[in-house]
Formats: sequence, C-alpha cells, structure tokens
Amino acid sequence: AADMRSNYIARRITPVENFPKPGIRFRDITPALQDPRALRNSIDLFAERYDNMGLTQVVAVEARGFIFSAALADRLGIGLTLIRKAGKLPRDVFSASYMLEYGDDVLELHKDALKPRDKVIIMDDMLATGGTISAAVDLVRKTPATIMETAFVCELLYLGGRKKLDQMGINSYAICA
Ligand code: PRP
Repeated sequence: AADMRSNYIARRITPVENFPKPGIRFRDITPALQDPRALRNSIDLFAERYDNMGLTQVVAVEARGFIFSAALADRLGIGLTLIRKAGKLPRDVFSASYMLEYGDDVLELHKDALKPRDKVIIMDDMLATGGTISAAVDLVRKTPATIMETAFVCELLYLGGRKKLDQMGINSYAICA
C-alpha cells in the first residue's frame, strides 16, 4: 500500500538537532537516498500520481529537488527543467528572491525554458516555510506554462508551507509529513 511505502521513506529521513544553526531541526534525506527500497518507493509513488496527468516537464528546485525530479522525469519519459540559485544559468533568466532565516537568496529560471503547451509540476525534497517553493512558483508564473501542482518528498506541516501555497492557489502533494 502507499501508506507502507511512505512510512518506509519517512523512517529513513533523519532529524538532526541544531543544524545548520542552533534551534533548527534539520531533516537529513541522505539515508533515504542510500536505501534502495526507500529511493525506489519515492519515485514509484510520484510516478503513480503523475502518470496520467499529461505533464510535459518536471521543474526541479536546486539542490536536493534535482535528485528526485531527475529520476521521476526519466520514469515518466518527459523533460527536466532546472530552477537554480543565482548566477548559475548562462542565458537570460527570470529571478525571484526569497527569505531565509538571515537575509535572502535568489532563484533563477531561463526565460525561454517553458512554452505555452507545457504542463508542469514543481518539485523539491522538502516543504518547510514554503519560501523556496513560492519563489519557484513566482518564476514559473512568469512563463506561459501551466502549473499542475507542487510536489515534495516530505513536508513539515507546522511551518505553514502548505497554507502559503494554498493562498497562492497552488496545490501541494507530499509523500510524507
Ligand atoms: C532546503 C530544502 C528546500 C527548502 C525548504 O533547501 O531542500 O529547498 O530548504 O525550506 P523552505 O520551505 O522554508 O523554503 P536549502 O535552502 O537547504 O538548499 P539546498 O537544497 O540547495 O541545500
């Protein structure tokens, strides 16, 4: 069942207290990547959800979002579109800034990356405050593509990311909470 597979993944995401800063409880996905069954389960669950949605691209958020997105895009037989941190993409870009705990950061997307016929999901490993994914949504909204929803391996419900996306009119799916 889907529940057993999501539980299997959730048990392999390891909380680390006070990383990268005091008071932060970091969720380490590296054990879930190293476990072949957890990795396979995560891509299976995404593939089952997105198989018949008519997606043309998976839009991936740097850095850990790239991992799951690449495997999913290959499984679905569609392309991968990268949203990168500032200064990494070589051609004309749209930029969107977002808040971190201290200061802010910038995400970028090539201006010509998506076309009117594109139907996409935007993926990241984790939904926390929703700051990162909101900036990613803002970027894709500058293009003529249609955003079907956002997708995550894991969401931290108490940080309000899902609510923030709801307010933007964006649905979100997470394998585990
Ligand atoms: C983490 C995670 C998400 C984001 C979630 O990335 O991979 O992208 O934080 O947090 P939010 O919902 O509060 O924005 P991080 O900023 O650590 O960058 P990285 O993936 O490049 O390491």
